[in-house]
Amino acid sequence: MSNPFTTALLQWYENHGRDLPWRHTTDPYPIWLSEVILQQTRIAQGTAYWERFMKQFPTVESLAAASEDEVLRLWQGLGYYSRARNLHAAAKQIVAMGSFPKNHEEIRRLKGVGDYTAAAIASFAFGLPHAAIDGNAYRVLARYFGIETPINTTIAKKEFAALAQQLLPNDRAADFNQAMMDFGATLCTPTSPQCSECPLAEGCDALHTHRTQVLPIKQKTVKMATRHFTFIYIRCQGETAIMRRPAGDIWQGLWQPLLIESTSDDKPMRIEDLPLDLNDANKAKLTLVATGVKHVLTHRIIMADFYLLEAPAKPSLPDGYLWIPEDQIDRYALPRLVERLVEAVK
Ligand code: ADE
Repeated sequence: MSNPFTTALLQWYENHGRDLPWRHTTDPYPIWLSEVILQQTRIAQGTAYWERFMKQFPTVESLAAASEDEVLRLWQGLGYYSRARNLHAAAKQIVAMGSFPKNHEEIRRLKGVGDYTAAAIASFAFGLPHAAIDGNAYRVLARYFGIETPINTTIAKKEFAALAQQLLPNDRAADFNQAMMDFGATLCTPTSPQCSECPLAEGCDALHTHRTQVLPIKQKTVKMATRHFTFIYIRCQGETAIMRRPAGDIWQGLWQPLLIESTSDDKPMRIEDLPLDLNDANKAKLTLVATGVKHVLTHRIIMADFYLLEAPAKPSLPDGYLWIPEDQIDRYALPRLVERLVEAVK
């Protein structure tokens, strides 16, 4: 038997659910793709990326056959590039398996797929009864049931999973999961929930105890460390120099101009500080284009300064740099921060 929460939620979903393109299919490939993209961005931008991916890689086989560079370029702008690399690796896994895995346990073994994504795919593509618990679900459940367990803890993960699994109707898993996402994204929003229009208001603990602004509770985590990057965009005879970022750090495999990392951002760069052999240093000109550019990543904040170095003759560069025509830089996968630099020096 359904409980009052599920009954009201599903009723709301019938009238207010969003019409999204990946909901018109039960093919696991487009569904998986949408989930991976939507972990990174909101629906409007995510839909545009999903459509571009589906156009360029209509099947998992075509994605698997692409080069990593092609995948990264299409992902460009979404950030957190390890997700794109995992997506590509998982496509190869699937092709090697012969077909898309068809149950939660096997889907969960794909690279980059966690409990949430596995449950989303299992329910949307195969109708399997697994609750997909994303940030929306945590918020909705914490408020309705008045749960104070900090949601970013292991205990909460178990507690919310058990509760959601109990609320989920086995024959309507996909609807239930999508309803939770839509309800959380459009009505039970983080800062301004629309309680006066909420069909779940009657049973909502947070509303009755005036705690909608308090729940869900999040345990404070340590402050994010900041890294200080100084980028030098070199302009010389219509060309610029870039290098591919190595493994073992952020932005693996993406391209960047000369980068100097420092422990603080307090002193301006002078031309003689550059790690370059400027054959014609007298005439080379270094201009500060932007300073204190803040870029927030998942576990890091980057504070960046952008410089333009205009050199009449090509300086010799450290190993690994490549000279390319400036107008071809958009053929390379760049971190969003570097795109901002390229825009700034245009
Ligand atoms: N966010 C992540 N997955 C989603 C989906 N399938 N529908 C709506 N929002 C989502």
